[in-house]
Amino acid sequence: MSETRTVNPVRIFISGACAGLAQVRDSLAAHADIEFLGMAADTTKAAQKIRANGSQVILHAVAVSEELPVDEIEILREESAAPIVLLVNEMTPELLQGALRMGIADVVLLPQLTENLVFTIKKAHSLGAMQNQAARKTHESTTITVFSPKGGSGKTTIATNMAAAYAQRHRLKTLLVDIDLQFGDVAIMLGVEPQQTVLDLVMSQGELDADKLRGYVTRHPSGLDVLPSPLRPEDAELVSDERLGNLLDVARRSYDVVIIDTPTIFNSSVLTALDRTDALLVVASMEIPALKSTRVCLQTLDMLNFPRERAHVLMNRAHTKVGLRQGEVERVLERPVAFEVPSNRAVPVAINRGVPVSVAEPNADVSKAIHRVCSSFVGDGQAEAASKRRGLFGRRKKSRASEVPDGQMNLYESDVALAEAAAAAAAAPPPPAAVPDPAEVATPHDEPRRDEPAA
Ligand SMILES: Nc1ncnc2c1ncn2[C@@H]1O[C@H](COP(=O)(O)OP(=O)(O)OP(=O)(O)O)[C@@H](O)[C@H]1O
Ligand SMILES: [Mg+2]
Repeated sequence: MSETRTVNPVRIFISGACAGLAQVRDSLAAHADIEFLGMAADTTKAAQKIRANGSQVILHAVAVSEELPVDEIEILREESAAPIVLLVNEMTPELLQGALRMGIADVVLLPQLTENLVFTIKKAHSLGAMQNQAARKTHESTTITVFSPKGGSGKTTIATNMAAAYAQRHRLKTLLVDIDLQFGDVAIMLGVEPQQTVLDLVMSQGELDADKLRGYVTRHPSGLDVLPSPLRPEDAELVSDERLGNLLDVARRSYDVVIIDTPTIFNSSVLTALDRTDALLVVASMEIPALKSTRVCLQTLDMLNFPRERAHVLMNRAHTKVGLRQGEVERVLERPVAFEVPSNRAVPVAINRGVPVSVAEPNADVSKAIHRVCSSFVGDGQAEAASKRRGLFGRRKKSRASEVPDGQMNLYESDVALAEAAAAAAAAPPPPAAVPDPAEVATPHDEPRRDEPAA
């Protein structure tokens, strides 16, 4: 007889192996308060599945062993923050002590009554939710929206490059959301094949929480998580503002940095994003019609009461010789240009390889310019806090060679090169003052320059 499922059953996944596990699986799969998502004896396979399915509690079965399988738990922890309940056939003091040290939610000796097990799972779930809530209160996160009233001005280029730089260079947990819902091309520009899109996430049943979000993002080799736009333009209207707003709120609570790429119009999705934006980059270009549109855009932002101090003009393809001087540009815009990013052939070359230029060629002038834009929004404090927070369990894998497409190994190797270059630069004497570094172009005009943080 099948029972009626409760409104919000706890989503569980079972990993590992031990005696009596098949009975546990059968009884939990039939229980109304539990949504059984699957099972895998191999921990690495289990971790991949857990990452994709947004499990809320992980049951990890430990075969006869006196000590805690620390490696297995670390593998699971790298992919999910869900509480872990251990299922064991034998309880030893060493195992219990290890479990305590590693923050295991509970240890259950099998065989066990199903109701006891369900109680333990629900307890682990609600305690985990409370801990997440507490962590959220102290969680610093920055949402950056990249907008332009002119098509082709470089929004997606800037958004993808900043996002990859935050993920790889600053080692911040970063999500890139494409709300150019009809014609978004974030996924193509990053060379990722999305399994799911914004549409799948907002149309999914049930509560949208951090675990669910994690199951819908596509991981880029830089470590960046991507939520691409719907695959078909006609699906754009299915993404309601309410669900999109909810998604962005959840994203903010689960990521250090959220970057939002946008279409060229102030539609309701963009307004929903602006409501949640800490920093808005208005991408401009050095042509009179584009500058005029940028001025109208800035005026519209004023009319929308968007705080002026959060809107920053970014001049893309700056220094292109088109007969306009910076003073003239700022006069037309009636606003200072906060950042300049030069034009560089490496940008389209990198796009055609599906690798952001900030990752493929970190020493190119355009990449350095983008890194400086990134540094101005995320202070060292946030990066440090994020790395401390992650330090306990969430070591990011240094090598994910299996996930890196052929020919892109340099994504991770470049980290080492970057660190070496930064160290060499720090040791080298400063360049003579008379020789300006063309890469220094993205420093905010109204702020003192900052050194790049070490990779
Ligand atoms: N700094 C740059 N140097 C060289 N090429 C650039 C630069 N920025 C953008 N481009 C090129 O300009 C083209 C358009 O850029 P992009 O797609 O990022 O613009 P967009 O504003 O997102 O366009 P859309 O309005 O279609 O969404 C891309 O092919 C990219 O290669
Ligand atoms: Mg675009």
